[in-house]
Order: sequence, then C-alpha cells, then structure tokens
Amino acid sequence: MLLSGYGKWNRLNFSAQGMTCDVRRSDSVHEDLTTQSLTFKLISMSSPSELIFFVNGKKVVEKNADPEEVLLSFLRRKAGLTGTKYGCGSGGCGACTVMVSRYSCHQERVVHCTVNACLQQIVTLHGAAVVTVEGIGSTKTKLHPVQERIAKAHGSQCGFCTPGMVMSMYTLLRNKPQPSMDDIREALGGNICRCTGYRPILDGFKTFCESEQTSACCQNGGGGKCCMENGMNSSKNINSEESDISEELFPMDNFLPLDPSQDLIFPPELLIMEKKRSGDALYFQGQRVNLVAPSELSHLMELKAEHPSAPLTGGNTTIGPKMLLKGNLPPLVVYVGRIPELRAVTWGENGLTVGAACSLSTLKEELEKAVVEMEEARTRGYRAMLQTLQCLAGKQIRNMATIGGNLLSANPTYDLGSVSAAVDCTLHIISKDGTRELSLNEKLFTDFGKTALRPNEVLLSINIPYSKPWEFVASYRQAQRREFAFSFVNAGMKVVIREGSDIVESLNIYYGGVGSTLVKPRQTCQQLVGRPWGENLLTEACHFLKEDVDVSSSIHGGRGEYRKSLVFSFFFKFYMQVVLEMRERGVSDVDLPLEYLSALKPFKNEVPQGQQSYQLVSGAQSSADPVGRPSMHQSAFQQATGEAKYYDDLPPVKGELFIFMVTSTRAHAKIINVDLSVALEMPGVVTVVSAGDVPGSNCRLWFNNPEELFASEEVFCVGQIICAVVAESREQARRAAQKVLITYQDLQPVFFTIEDAIKHKSYFEPKREVERGDVDEALKTAEHILEDEIYMGGQEHFYMETQGLIAVPRGENNEMDLFASTQHAAFTQELVGMALGIESNKITCHVKRLGGGFGGKVMKIASLSAITAVAAHKTGRAVRCCLERGDDMLITGGRHPFLGKYKVGYNSVGTIIAADIIYYSNGGCTLDESSFIMDKAILHMDNGYKIPNLRGRGVVCKTYLPSYTAFRGFGGPQGLMVIESVLHEVAVRCGLPPEKVRDINMYREEQSYTHYKQLFCPTNMVRCWNECLERADYEDRLGAIRLFNSSNRWKKRGIAAVPQKFGVGFSKGFYNQGAALVNIFKDGSVLVTHGGTEMGQGINTKAIQIASRVLKVPMSSIFIKETCTGNVPNAAPSAASFGTDSVGMAVKDACEKLMRRLKPLMKENPQNTWKQWVSDAFFQKISLSATGFFMGPATNVDWEKGEGQAYYYFTYGACCSEVEIDCLTGDHKNIRTDIVMDVGKSINPALDIGQVEGGFVQGVGLYTIEELQFSPDGVLMTRGPSQYKVPALCDVPAEFNVHLLTDSENPHAIYLSKGIGEPPVFFGSTLFFAIKAAIAEARKEKGLGDTFPLSSPATAEKIRMACQDQFTEMASSQTNGTATPWCIQV
Ligand SMILES: Cc1cc2nc3c(=O)[nH]c(=O)nc-3n(C[C@H](O)[C@H](O)[C@H](O)COP(=O)(O)OP(=O)(O)OC[C@H]3O[C@@H](n4cnc5c(N)ncnc54)[C@H](O)[C@@H]3O)c2cc1C
Ligand code: FES
Ligand code: FES
Repeated sequence: MLLSGYGKWNRLNFSAQGMTCDVRRSDSVHEDLTTQSLTFKLISMSSPSELIFFVNGKKVVEKNADPEEVLLSFLRRKAGLTGTKYGCGSGGCGACTVMVSRYSCHQERVVHCTVNACLQQIVTLHGAAVVTVEGIGSTKTKLHPVQERIAKAHGSQCGFCTPGMVMSMYTLLRNKPQPSMDDIREALGGNICRCTGYRPILDGFKTFCESEQTSACCQNGGGGKCCMENGMNSSKNINSEESDISEELFPMDNFLPLDPSQDLIFPPELLIMEKKRSGDALYFQGQRVNLVAPSELSHLMELKAEHPSAPLTGGNTTIGPKMLLKGNLPPLVVYVGRIPELRAVTWGENGLTVGAACSLSTLKEELEKAVVEMEEARTRGYRAMLQTLQCLAGKQIRNMATIGGNLLSANPTYDLGSVSAAVDCTLHIISKDGTRELSLNEKLFTDFGKTALRPNEVLLSINIPYSKPWEFVASYRQAQRREFAFSFVNAGMKVVIREGSDIVESLNIYYGGVGSTLVKPRQTCQQLVGRPWGENLLTEACHFLKEDVDVSSSIHGGRGEYRKSLVFSFFFKFYMQVVLEMRERGVSDVDLPLEYLSALKPFKNEVPQGQQSYQLVSGAQSSADPVGRPSMHQSAFQQATGEAKYYDDLPPVKGELFIFMVTSTRAHAKIINVDLSVALEMPGVVTVVSAGDVPGSNCRLWFNNPEELFASEEVFCVGQIICAVVAESREQARRAAQKVLITYQDLQPVFFTIEDAIKHKSYFEPKREVERGDVDEALKTAEHILEDEIYMGGQEHFYMETQGLIAVPRGENNEMDLFASTQHAAFTQELVGMALGIESNKITCHVKRLGGGFGGKVMKIASLSAITAVAAHKTGRAVRCCLERGDDMLITGGRHPFLGKYKVGYNSVGTIIAADIIYYSNGGCTLDESSFIMDKAILHMDNGYKIPNLRGRGVVCKTYLPSYTAFRGFGGPQGLMVIESVLHEVAVRCGLPPEKVRDINMYREEQSYTHYKQLFCPTNMVRCWNECLERADYEDRLGAIRLFNSSNRWKKRGIAAVPQKFGVGFSKGFYNQGAALVNIFKDGSVLVTHGGTEMGQGINTKAIQIASRVLKVPMSSIFIKETCTGNVPNAAPSAASFGTDSVGMAVKDACEKLMRRLKPLMKENPQNTWKQWVSDAFFQKISLSATGFFMGPATNVDWEKGEGQAYYYFTYGACCSEVEIDCLTGDHKNIRTDIVMDVGKSINPALDIGQVEGGFVQGVGLYTIEELQFSPDGVLMTRGPSQYKVPALCDVPAEFNVHLLTDSENPHAIYLSKGIGEPPVFFGSTLFFAIKAAIAEARKEKGLGDTFPLSSPATAEKIRMACQDQFTEMASSQTNGTATPWCIQV
C-alpha cells in the first residue's frame, strides 16, 4: 500500500488555550518512499529510461529525468535558455510559450504546436523537438521576421511577454505561412501582455497576412487601395487638409521576408526514432514522483490494474498545477499520450470517435472540418461544441489538454462536460476486465474531481454522435473574460422535436458551475416532454429550473445569485433559438419579437482595427535628429530574441542560494512560536532568517512611517512576511517553507473593509481637506441635491515579471551588489544599508530592466531586497529571491480600493453648484504610500470641471489587509472616477446626456484655477474634448445607439466620453529632480547613465534620442547599459509620469556640458568627424565625462491652507467609448474607443501612443474585469491568472483610435513634451460609464428607473444583476442570506 493515499493535504488544527497552529502537511508517506520500493510487475524497471529530445536542434539526453521537472525550469536553469519566461507557472499568461514538434506516424508529417513550458513535463517530451525563442533567430546571426516585425511595430515595451508572443506567431507561421487575421487572433489568445494594449503586436504580425500588407486599417487592402489611403476609416479624419499628420508608426517596407529555410528542421534522428518506435514503456524515477509512459494499451491496462490509485495524465494541465502549486504529489503517474488507440480519430456511422488522449485542438480541428464538409443538420452538436471550444482556454492549453483530461477531471467549471452530455456522447471505457460503454451524463460525475470510472479503468475514447434532423442543440458559457478564462457557468442543451410538429420528444439540459458536479435539471428535462415548444413551456421550464437547480450562496467561487440567473438566461436563449429555427421550418407560430433576435448572436471576437496619428516634425528639422520621430524601443530586438536579460535571467553566481518567504496565515495575531525543526532538517536547507537575524534595523522607514521587514511579535495581515527559508535550490526552499510551523494567538479586532474601518474609526494620519468656495452655503441654495456613493475596487499590478532580486556579497568591506527589479534603486540601496547596518557607499543596486512595474516595484521590492540581503549577509553567499506569482499577489499589495461618498447641489440644466466629497481608501495594515495616493486623489477631484464650491476630504482607512501601494495613476484614477460619477448621476437626474453636463461644467477660461488654487490653462483639454467627440462622431453615434436600443431587447449599447486633466510630477517637490552621467569613449561611442529605470515605457530610448540631438551623433552610437546607484546616486523613483521629464533634462544638461567642452575643437576643425573631435579632446586632456542635473519645479501643497502648486503642468486628453452589453449574461463588448491626447510635442510618438494604448487597456481591466476577491478571513483568493483576469486580446475595442493632439507645446518639459505614463489609465472608465448607460436602457424595458448603484469594476456579474428582469428575480428569491459569503468587498 505504499502507493496509496497520495496527494492529500490535511489541515491539522491543534487547539490549546485559544492558540491554534496551522500546518499543511502531506498525509502520504511518499516522501519516504524510495523509487526502489516501487515494483512494477509488468515492466521490468530496474533502471530508468533515457529521455531523448531536442532543444533548438541540439540533442538532449537525460539519464535521470525527474517527472516533476517542467520544461520551463529545464530551459531556464539547465539549458541556460532564459528567453522563455516565468510569468505565472500555471498556464495562464503565455510568457513561457515554446513550440513542440513531433512526427506523427498517423498523419505522416511533423506536427508543430505551441505549449506552455511551465506545465510541460520534460519526461513527456521523449521524441519531441522543442524550439524556443533563441532557436528561431538572434541579433548575432539573423533575426527571424517575427522577431523583427514585433520589434519594429513597437509591439515590445517591457518585453517580458514578447518571447511568448513571438513563439505563438512563429508556430502559426510554421503551420500556415499565410495566416488570416483570425488565425493570428486565435494564436495569440493565450498570451497576455500587460504593457502594450496588444494593438502594436497585432500590427506587426498583420504584415504576415496575405491581405494585410498595409497597416491597421479596413483589412481590405490587398489588391486595391485601403481605407487608410482613401480616408474611409471610420475615425473622422479632421486633419485631412493638413499634410503634417502621419499615421505611420513604422515603415512597412524593408521587412525581412519570411524564409522557411531559416527554420530549424525536424531532427532526422527523431523521425527515425519515431518510425522505429518499439512497444517498450518509458519509466522515469524522480525523488518524489515516478512516471510510466506505456506505449501499448495492454500495458496501460496492466499498470492500472496494479496501481489503481495512480492518476493518468495526458496534457498535465490539471494535474500539473495541482502538483506545482498545491503540492499534490502522487508517487506514480501514468502517462497515456503514447498509446495510439488513445490518440486515434475515426469518423464512422455514429459520428466522430476521438481518443481520450487527443488534444482539444485536435478535436476542434476535426469539428471545424466537419461543419464545413457535412450537411448542417448532422453537425448541430458539433457547432455547439465548437462554440465552446473557441473560448476554452488559450491555444497553448488547447494544444496540451486532452479530451479525457477535461472530462475526467470532473471539474464542473470545465466546459466540455455539459455540452458533451447534452449531445449524448458515449464513453468507451477499458480495463483489464474488459470494455464497457458509459453514457456521458450527470451520473458519470459523482463528486467534485470524482467519476464513476472504477479505479482500474481508463477512458479509451469518446463518441460524439451526428445530430439528427429534428434535434436542436446549443452551448453557452460565461466567464469573467470572454476568452481564456474558466466559465462561471457553462451549459449544453439539446431538444428533440417530434418531426413536423412542435412537440418535445426529449430534452437534455446540463449545467456546469452551479454545484460540485455537472447538474442535470431532472424535472425540467422530464416534465416538459410531450409539450409544445412555446411560451407556456418557457414559463414552466423556469418554474422547474428554479426547483431543480439550487446554487448555494457559499458556492466555491461565489456569485451564487448570478450563477442562478445564468441558468435561466441560458435556457431562455435556447428557447428563443429553437423557436427561431422551428419557425424557419414552419412548425412554430410562437411570437418571437424581432427585437429579441440579437440575444441569440454571441459577441464575435474581432481583430482590433484602428488609426493612430501624430504630428510630423517640422521640415526644417535635420533628418539626423531623432527627437519627435517614432523610434523603436532601444532593446526591442533583444527582447524579441530572448537575449534581453531580466534579473532572474542572470546566470547563477557560484554558491548561490535561494530564498522563499514564509508568510502569515492569520490576519491579526500574536506570534507564539515559530517551529523550524522540520524545515531545517529538509534537504538543501541552509538557514532560516527572521527578525533576529537583521544586523541593522528591521524596519522599512518611509517618510518616518515604519514597516517591519519580518514580523517580530505580531502579524497584521495574511501574507505578512514572518521569516524566510534559505536553501540550495528554489524547490528545496519552497518545500521547506511549507514545513515551517507557526503558532498564533488570534487577536482582536480584525476587519478588512472600508465600512468596518469607519465603524472602528481606524484611520491613518494625516487626513486631508481642500475646499474652494463655500460648499455648505452653496448646498443650501442649490435647486437639487443628490447624495450618493461610488465604490471602486482595487487592482493587482500583474506586471508580467514577478518581483525579485539577487543579492551578491562581495566578501570584502561588507560590500553588496543587488540586481533587482526595482523602480527605485536608491531606496532599495538605502533600505538594504539600513537593514545590514552598512553605509550606502558599500551597497550597489543595479537595474538592467524591469518586466513591467506600474508602481508596484517601488516599496515592497525594497523590503524583499533587505530580507534577501540579510540572508546573503548571514550566509556569506549570493541569494536569489524570485516570488512565485501567487506569493507576489499575496505579499506585494496593489491599487487601493476607494469609496467616495458625495453630496452635490445642481440645477436643472446640469450645472453643478457645489460638491462635497469624502474619499475613503483602504490602506491595508501599514501606511506605505497611501497618504500620498490620497493626496493625489483629492488634488484630482475637480478633473476638468469648474465646480465653484468644491470640498474634498480624504481618509485612509487602516485595515488588516496587506498594505496597498502605488499603482499607475497613483490615486488619480480613483479621484477622477468619483467626480465623473457625480457628473454622470447629475446628468441622469437632469435627463441630459452626460457628455452635455460634462461640457457645460468644464473649465474654459485661459487662466483657470484648480480647487487648490493652481493656475492652469485648460485650452488644450477643451481642444482634446472637442476633437475627440468630433472624431468619434459622437452625436451621430448617439442617435444610432438610441435606434439600436429601441430595436433590441436583450442587447443594449451605451456611449460615454470623459475629459482629463492630470498633474505630472511629484507633489513632494524635492522628488522632482533628475541626474545623469554621460561618458564619451575614445572611439566616439557614448554611454549614458541616468537615475530612471527602464520598465517598458521607453525611458532609455527617449534619453538616447535626447543625447543624440544634443551631441549630434547617431542613436546607434549611444548606449544605456543599466541603472546603477554607483553611477547616479540618490535618484528619485521612476514614477509620477515624470521619468522622461527629469531624466531627459539631466541627460540634456550633461550632453550640453560635453558639447561646450568640444565646441572649440569643432570650431577649430569643422571638417573633422565626431571621432576625431573626441580623440583630440582626449589628447588635449579635456574631460569626456559629465554629470547632468535637473532641478525640477518646486511643487508643494500647503495642506493647512489647502492650496499650492501641486504639479508643474497638466497632461490633457479626452476619450470616448462605446460598448454593447448582453443583458441576459452580463457579457460586454468594447465596440469602439477614440482617444485624443495632448502630450505636447512628442519626443517619440510611437512610444507615447504605446503608453496611451497600454495605459488605456490597463484601465479597461481596472474598470471592467479585474476583480480581487478576499475571503471573509481576509485571505486573498485571486492569486493567479486563473482567478484574476487582466485584459486579453479579446478586451481591446474592436475599433481603437488614438490621436496625439497637434500644435501643442509644453514649455515646462524637455523639448516641449509632456509626461504620459499614467493619465491614460483613467480613460478605461469610459467603458464603465458606457456600460452604465447601456444597463439603464435595459432597466427601462422593465420600467425601472435609470438611477441604480453600480460599483467598479463593472463585471459581467454586476452588469447582469443590474439588468433586472424576470430571471434575476427568480434567481434572487432562491438565495439564502445566512450562509457565509464566498468573498467580501473590501
Ligand atoms: C490556464 C488554463 C486555462 C484553462 N481554461 C479552461 C477553460 O476555459 N475551460 C475548460 O473547460 N477547461 C479549461 N482548463 C482546463 C483544461 O481544459 C484541463 O486542464 C484539461 O482539459 C485537462 O486535460 P489534461 O490532458 O491536461 O489532463 P491531466 O492534467 O493530464 O489529467 C487530468 C485528469 O484526467 C484524468 N485522465 C486523463 N486522461 C484519462 C484517461 N484516458 N482515462 C481516465 N482518466 C484520465 C487524470 O487521471 C487526471 O485526474 C484550463 C486549464 C488551464 C491550465
Ligand atoms: S508562465 Fe507559463 S503560462 Fe504563465
Ligand atoms: S511588453 Fe507585453 S508585458 Fe510588457
């Protein structure tokens, strides 16, 4: 019985005098289980098999391959191929995408597909060829066209997603050299980019489509002229007369042609190996897990008979994450992917029979062929399945995941179960005892994760029958994000109608996601048989469904009421679909109003289109001067080839150790004991560090606010770091960390929400207040008063590269080098020095680049660095810290949730006389940057509106959650959101379009003052606003939307526009400084160093452009290597949209100094070259090194008086978006967005447009789909991309136009430009307001008022539940309000 009982984690609770101790311990004995103790009777496995596969054309032979090892760690750590990135480790981001090729004897060809290397076990790669981003091209040899085009099209910002994107596209081209745009969209569906907003990536890849040799446009290019050339694009071209407007961000000519001869060939050795494949099984022994891969069905049967508890694995996409993330470790796993019978596909009289080990992609391809080739009546079931498969996971997962795995994982949120059951699939089961057939229905699934298969049985294949002429089939699913997301609820439905009649002969309905297993509403399916398919049936069906389907309000994942409403909504859709088809056949006279039909059309995922325009530099500017031109990101080629190094790509330093954090599982508790005895005994463990090991200060001080590095006595949130295990490898450190036993004594109070903090009066100081005019007086005289509130949820940064660093002690003078992913190198250096008790001059922090930061890598990374440095100091060895995605999300905090409570006075025409707003933010358990973030919210509360009497008060709530921190926009998106809600609600109450109310309240005077008395000129904001509405054709579209809404009952549209005024720079004036060091070498090359950090925003590229202008040398001769505290000390963080402003000025200053020194030489020998002048300078002992400094504006706010010069200047813009919602499901589609942005005189229009688009799409996430869920115990449950959805390609508006305002010059910043990093995030709110307008239209149909609460983000659940109708009513009457909710709104 050594093999039994694997993989269960038991939660042991020891209670004594109020103390509880919490430990996760495996109840299995497998850790003691040596591989020698496994006996396989069938196959003699005295020695493990030799694993053979190829990586980038090189043969890999592994004699002791470990079944636990995934390809990602093999590539990165053993093969040194760090181009493939770790973003999540769970298949949810695509950063680790590689191509796997195999020879298929059945198809007699090599088959290429993308896989997620983080889930791909190496032992199942026997006989395969892996190609990584390094294998397709390089800057040293030749770029692959895919690499070249994504780079040139500005599709790589931070670059962390880029190798994955490249490999998805490359694999597509290997399979289809001239893909369609839909092919590209599908190929990239499983790749997340957090920076670009996807448009430029698509633009680069579009160039591979035969019909897409033109840029983003109507896609009718091909032979004739495209819309871009003849002005047909729907974004109104208001600059048609002007010739200095360009829409070209990269030249379309001169691309490297796609040359298949550049591709690595499939290794002939593998071909021979596969053709000669023997029937032997493969066997791999790991330390904890063993894997057998039989190649004959009989072997599999024997193995299953002998080891019935050994799980089978196909794609490893369910088992893998469980092993990796949950430590669920079976001692023996049986891989089924080598057995031909399980991979067979046969078409027969009864339809399609697919082997259980066929991938979901294979199934999809077969079904796609069938619907094209076969008559419609036979393929209805196949169409329904395809409908599901199109949205199921991303391409990589579909390539790996098997049909057997999807069904037999018995997870009701997996989609295939419901639709397969509905179409009456049959499972062919096989075991040593024989074969049997099982109907695929609810009886197959006995509980979550359990099926009716006997332990020794294997699923051989599944038969999917043809549809019959009078069968009607459909499938439905609804998820947080339309694609690449697990469904909340999925459904499959089939009705058989008696031929020539409207009578139901049989009804099959299945729901997933409404309970722990697949649910068949029995009564509904039985009682409706024999009845006509008509309105009475619908009423009765709903009645039965209400009884049949009971969704508990504490259902895993929450959203009980919403799920229940989807049960009705899906059936209603099915009902209408069937009526429609029956009417077409003349067997139904049920009335189906025309306005109902749109409910039947699922949203089509389109390839985003759009225009980007900017003003060309003046003709007088030298062609050699790059400023103002769209230059490619400095490292784009390196990023696209995987050569770009991030901190975790640096090779291990000799003797390097790994650190893993141990965090609190309690929200507020006293630490009674930390038992390290087990952990310290674990293999590879070197030490555990905690507060007592910190030689200096255990406190992170930030403006005098302390935060402990290690909790010493008490914990204040789940996720607080208590100690950290240091071991020889990351696996060893992780495993040992799980064995640290902490005993707590729970303390009171414990609360997590803003509301509860208000009740407890739990606030941080200082509180803020600003007032213009006399709000109380004005409110007394106002015609109308409105009191309301708006809640806005937080946001996870989800930078693609998780936080981490390497701390390297130099072994002399206590010197320490840090290679960190930080936006604030100086703070990291300072804190490490304080923790170690060592002066900053011994600590050097290096930052090459960040895989995204967005404000999240300023504060916590400094603490992590100090902790890691303590470990390095203690052990005297280099220590690497690399947070796993789940820990990163748990520990590092994100954007603050806000609650804005307001009272406004306004008149009937929509003029706002007075507004009194209290902002509450949830700051978490320590202050961090919360008070500065609140300042920014308050300072932005007027946005673009001249509200004569305006008061803002800001209170940061102290709760027992991980501390919230900076996030792109820094309180701006929250502050602006509240005032825009005020405007929206006032407009609704006045019966006016919100844009009209926005328009009449806007600042207009050239000399305007903010509510804190800062002078500014709003002209460009008004210009952006007017231009945006004009380009968007707002008025006409508003009319069209009204028409659409009046003729559609279940789909509604809404449009909304907002202006924006956003302050740039730090309101703490001393931060507004920048420094640079410019060195010229004797060969004429220039090395620039500055205090900013490159995190994708292109700060280095802009700095090089600036240096190039001043020094008059080409950009190619200027290089920026890294940010280093030893070169440029005391730098401010790269934040506040101020990076280029400060650094650019400093670089300019340094270059000008150098030019002043060189000027005499140039004058003397004007005919000389740059190199000669430099050489002359050297020989004349002229220094070729200069520092530059920028002393920025003296901004400050006097909070006593509530006035000041908070910002140096404002960036303006306006955005208009249109959405369509599905009132029955809450799904929404972003139809179109137009943005006009004032970035002054852009230094690099391509980078600026990239910031606008990327920021906007991050805002799309913030205001519509990104939802963090906390348990009632304060545990963050959304800890990975499976639970937390950031925008994917499907969320980009189908039409997305971005225009940079022309003729704008900003005298306050470098070369008349403006900072742009943060402002565009707020534009995502246009979708929120458009959604709210659309919901109001839906509510009108029910006679409901158009004022209703809607908090941000406007998720599918909230949209659906706000569109109240008979179905939501039926759903809500079922809910039992006493159950513990799944999650709370914090
Ligand atoms: C990022 C991500 C996104 C996803 N999104 C979706 C989604 O939107 N919709 C959806 O439906 N699913 C989704 N999934 C789940 C995915 O479809 C399943 O993980 C996959 O289908 C399981 O197949 P597998 O071959 O990888 O299973 P494995 O992990 O290899 O095995 C899973 C289980 O199936 C059993 N099993 C496998 N083959 C057999 C067999 N022949 N006989 C008996 N038992 C067998 C195993 O014992 C095991 O318990 C997603 C997964 C990931 C990682
Ligand atoms: S790291 Fe593999 S998908 Fe995210
Ligand atoms: S460029 Fe895509 S994640 Fe940064």
